[in-house]
Amino acid sequence: MKIGIIGTGYVGLVHGAVLSSYGFAVTCMDVDAEKIGRLSEGRSPLYEPGLDELLTGGIDAGTLSFTTSAEEAIQSSDVIFIAVGTPSREDGSADLSYVREATRQIGLYANGYKVVVCKSTMPVGTCRSIAGELNRSLEARHASFRIDVASNPEFLRQGKAVSDSLFPLRVVIGTESDEAKRMLQTIYEGHIRRKVPFLYTNPETAEMIKYASNAFLAVKISFVNELALLSEKVGANIEDIAFGMGLDDRISPHFLQAGPGYGGSCFPKDTQALVDVSRKHGEELYIVRAAIAANEKQKARMVAKISGALSPGGMLHGKTIAVWGLSFKPETDDIRNAPSYDIIDGLLAKGAAVNAYCPQGMKQAKRLWTDINGGINYCESEADSARNADAIVIVTEWEQFRACGWERIAASMRGGFLFDLRNMFAEQAGVRRLFDYYAVGSNEPA
Ligand code: UGA
Repeated sequence: MKIGIIGTGYVGLVHGAVLSSYGFAVTCMDVDAEKIGRLSEGRSPLYEPGLDELLTGGIDAGTLSFTTSAEEAIQSSDVIFIAVGTPSREDGSADLSYVREATRQIGLYANGYKVVVCKSTMPVGTCRSIAGELNRSLEARHASFRIDVASNPEFLRQGKAVSDSLFPLRVVIGTESDEAKRMLQTIYEGHIRRKVPFLYTNPETAEMIKYASNAFLAVKISFVNELALLSEKVGANIEDIAFGMGLDDRISPHFLQAGPGYGGSCFPKDTQALVDVSRKHGEELYIVRAAIAANEKQKARMVAKISGALSPGGMLHGKTIAVWGLSFKPETDDIRNAPSYDIIDGLLAKGAAVNAYCPQGMKQAKRLWTDINGGINYCESEADSARNADAIVIVTEWEQFRACGWERIAASMRGGFLFDLRNMFAEQAGVRRLFDYYAVGSNEPA
């Protein structure tokens, strides 16, 4: 069976590389010629642990190839995964123009029976509308074959994308076509053998499972962040609260880590899109809306927490703040909707000078944060950013921050504040004692 992937973002690229490692012939297509050129040489456009090895392995084995030609990718494949972006529009709705273009090209170039699999996160109803559009194209071409469609949402996390793809917690397949189901079962044979749970359902349900999962996780994070706010006021400790809650396996300990708010290319976009779809159907999703609002408040609250501690009036003129961690989470260079952006923007607005350091995110920040870049001094290391600074703010919990030479760093600073927005050092008296230490969700003295 030959596989085509349209779109080489996180989902498409990782999925294609993983399928090629199973021995399938995979052709990945993207309109970005520069990206395809790099990929053909085995150079990944994104930082994702384990991906480079898979890419070079697939290219060397001859199972993975790249093209800018939609015609080639479509015609050479039995199964075509649509994995293009579905970014947010201004009004929060999902922009489906890349999905529509991929559908148009499949309708135009398909040269025989194909299974089209919707892998991108698509609002409920999209998969069925793709099927309708493809049918119309084939009818117009008087084609003698059909195309079946399935929704097969992706649940991988950035930073763990390769291992999540190789070892998923579940596989959801939404289709009314037995042939599509059979072909996907062949592709995921290894998962079936390893007894990964499979859920077969209709396309609408599959699409909703994806949005519901992301929205639920976002709700969990906003919930714990709200409790963190209250904990600071009443003298409780959010880390212990989350631990205590998580001991109940109906709640589970996961996604109860208080912090500066969720970010990334998925939760902000998908929660907005779910609210948008519900409105189009005359419904209000109050809980999801509240999670979004609480997340915005959380980011603003981080700025208020820092400025309130550093200066009684809250203004930060003359203060230098080292911000550590720009990517929205560790082990990725992705800065899309990263809380660091809002926090830096807020600090700059209060007059602070910002020294930024991130193990992977600085290249993207320099390229994309054109509106705030004038105020950011990008630094080579943790130590470089902290020198003569008044405060350090940890926004993303990169492991390397644990062993960055804290004694030396504290000694090189002008002020002595550490705002640990990920509670990395909440339990580490050795680091806490060096600073005026502020965590999220507790107000115990250092
Ligand atoms: C998320 C989901 O976890 C994946 O299952 C899903 O496939 C993916 O979106 C997607 O739709 O493509 P991802 O955005 O890579 O994955 O990252 P997460 O690990 O979920 O983290 C998202 C944000 O929540 C980060 O900013 C992270 O710092 C924050 N977070 C996470 C918390 O603040 N607290 C937590 O307890 C967990």
